[in-house]
Amino acid sequence: MASKFFDRVVDDGDRLYKVRPEIKSLIQFKRFNLMTPTFPFRRGFDFIFCRNVMIYFDKPTQQTLINKYYGALSEGGYLMIGHSESLTGVQHRFKYMQPTIYRKSHS
Ligand SMILES: C[S@@+](CC[C@H](N)C(=O)[O-])C[C@H]1O[C@@H](n2cnc3c(N)ncnc32)[C@H](O)[C@@H]1O
Repeated sequence: MASKFFDRVVDDGDRLYKVRPEIKSLIQFKRFNLMTPTFPFRRGFDFIFCRNVMIYFDKPTQQTLINKYYGALSEGGYLMIGHSESLTGVQHRFKYMQPTIYRKSHS
């Protein structure tokens, strides 16, 4: 899987990978503020990777953010968070899959 989408970067022993150019050309890189009241995305995401970001926010802010992530995902989509994070103490409709992985799933 890694070799299909990533090239290994020969470095000083670290395991570094970069996205293959043909994949990179499909990606839109944009900056935006997670605190924006409504997310500016027209289509639902299949995955949201947001690792080690929520830990810096207080619970009410985390709650708002989780609601926005839920709304931004397509049905069946996944939210991936960091290993030091969880949705404990936050109300949500995600299905817990395993540590750090939650799914928007009605089934
Ligand atoms: C600890 S870093 C984690 C970076 C990366 N996700 C990782 O796991 O290595 C936290 C990141 O959250 C970003 N961040 C903090 N507040 C943000 C906001 N309101 N909108 C978008 N990004 C934000 C920071 O710019 C920073 O890159």
